[in-house]
Amino acid sequence: MIAQPIKPQIPAINRLHFGAAYYPEHWPSDRLEEDILLMKQAHVSVVRMAEFAWSQLEPRAGIFTLDWLDRAIHKLADAGIVSVLGTPTAAPPAWLVEQYPEMMAVDEYGRRVQFGNRCHYCVTSPEFHQAVQRIIGALGERFGSSPSVIGWQLDNEFNRVCYCERCKQVFHEYLREIYHSLDVLNEAWSTAYWSQTYTDWSQIPLPIGSHNPGLKLAHHRFVTRSYRSFQRLQIETLRPYLHSEAWITHNFMTWFGAFDHYEMSADLDLASLDYYVGKGHFDYHIGGASIDAVRGYKQRNFWLMETQPGHVNWQTINTALNKNEGRALAWSAISRGADAVMYWQWRPALNGQEQLHGSLIDQSGQPRPFFSEASRLGREMERLSPLLANSHVKAQVAILYDFDSRWSIESQPHHKDFNYIHLLENYYQVLASKNLEVDIISADVPIFDYRLVIAPALTILDEDRVAKFKEFVRRGGHLLLTARTGVKDRNNAFLPYRPPGPLASLTGVEVEEFYALEEPVPVTGNWFNGNSELWAERLRILADRVAVIARFGRSNGWLDGQAAITVQVLGIGHVYYVGVQLDEIAQYEFFSHVLKSANLRGRETPDGVEWRTRVRMNGQEVHIIINHSQSTKSMVLPWPAYEHLSNQIIPPEVQLGSYAVAIITQEKE
Ligand code: GLA
Repeated sequence: MIAQPIKPQIPAINRLHFGAAYYPEHWPSDRLEEDILLMKQAHVSVVRMAEFAWSQLEPRAGIFTLDWLDRAIHKLADAGIVSVLGTPTAAPPAWLVEQYPEMMAVDEYGRRVQFGNRCHYCVTSPEFHQAVQRIIGALGERFGSSPSVIGWQLDNEFNRVCYCERCKQVFHEYLREIYHSLDVLNEAWSTAYWSQTYTDWSQIPLPIGSHNPGLKLAHHRFVTRSYRSFQRLQIETLRPYLHSEAWITHNFMTWFGAFDHYEMSADLDLASLDYYVGKGHFDYHIGGASIDAVRGYKQRNFWLMETQPGHVNWQTINTALNKNEGRALAWSAISRGADAVMYWQWRPALNGQEQLHGSLIDQSGQPRPFFSEASRLGREMERLSPLLANSHVKAQVAILYDFDSRWSIESQPHHKDFNYIHLLENYYQVLASKNLEVDIISADVPIFDYRLVIAPALTILDEDRVAKFKEFVRRGGHLLLTARTGVKDRNNAFLPYRPPGPLASLTGVEVEEFYALEEPVPVTGNWFNGNSELWAERLRILADRVAVIARFGRSNGWLDGQAAITVQVLGIGHVYYVGVQLDEIAQYEFFSHVLKSANLRGRETPDGVEWRTRVRMNGQEVHIIINHSQSTKSMVLPWPAYEHLSNQIIPPEVQLGSYAVAIITQEKE
């Protein structure tokens, strides 16, 4: 069992970085100089290399060919470009797979994964672990002390869940460690139901498809544990070689749900994100949430390790971002705490699965049209780095993101469209449209510095969570709980109460029944009207001081006229219970009022214009205003400002052209 996280370092990130994923191994070595010239033109300050280069670094077991990478690191460093190195473990080479066929993962249908793509390894394979330690040891020994290698990315987008016999055995060991005895496990999972009682650990399957909720949740935690152990093995192998400033990260995917990202991040120095729009356009009301979420993994700034230069290659239609949209997206990420923006990738290989993906340089070696937009961003980031480095986002609102609750609901959605992340976004969107900063954080960290905490569908409760919420409200916090709160314990078993179980004294209501909806149900509120579209809960009021904010209109009879949304005021603390998922307009009206009562007003901007703020160490606020639309927008600033991209004082009436970005600080009047 991993009790304590490895003590991570707090990375000293003293500048903003701009760059791309670079694969010198795909091109003749004499190309390097020309690439570096182009990188200088684009103001590239960092490249990420080697994360898929295992076969080029160790062409045969124990035989290392690291000179090409050494040369690239040095030549780049001579040009003032630093490197982030990936451990190449997401792409185990053919010779290794041939040597240890059983290190290949097995899919849900019992088929061994074929060689030829990536992430084909089984995360618990000891033979693979040995090979990983060997390659990481060699890389660490050669490059770990190099000051030009500022950071390391472990693997690439951990993602595969393996169903091999070994993983099953390791799962059994894990369960033994957690439950100690089968009696405890049988009780916790209610295995008397459908005769599931286990008399030997070896009888417990790896769950595929519909299964016992206790087993499913335990398996999710096991997947987290497996990746965390693997990641830890990499950290422990690498760290001893690294100079004191070097940091270690992993590049997570947006909202990826196979493991708990908070747990994984606990051992890392820095969290980083791969963010792609894919098809369509960047909508900060939604996309912003997945970027903010990464800041929450370590409750600090992060790196945008990959983003799209124009278009991707894996969507149904790989549309390109509009001209200047990519730059606006990048500034939006920076405004949310990204300290680096890196494009994937510099140049495509002539062959291989990702030929058609966007890049900065094309197959002929020439800059693509997007190159000039990226170069502009690089120049701007370089120039504004002294202003923005070491500044942070300060939020008064937190949304709790809980993997256990998400998994619990995903395994029993009850309505095909009930989606934990969509519910979270339902609240985020309103906050984004009011330009309110928001932290998306684990449900298990302190919340006392926030004014408002939203806990979407926090189905899984334990004593610590309950105690924390009670204390938060006692101190005057505003707490918003939604449908599907407080239903289950840590084993995914029902709490033997009506929801929200031990939170009923805080909410002053209990849920008598829940209804998955085929037809929207009308909801009439004190200051809004609308519909609940897919979920409705019939609430029973438990205390006189509970105020009903909204009631259901006519629908299935059971709900007609019943309370749908309530608030209980306790001292100066407020507790909302929202037993519905409102349509967008009603949600905006309802939630705006909640924000107002919590004295959270945000900032007004024209439609499609976002305004976010980073705060410098000396308390100075740097405001980043972005027009995410193609039309010109006018707005009036509350004070005279200095605009840092154009280096001038600007009048309060501002015109923001299509995808314009303004970075301002307040001028003394
Ligand atoms: C992921 C991977 C990259 C690349 C991009 C393409 O994020 O990490 O290696 O495949 O997708 O969009």
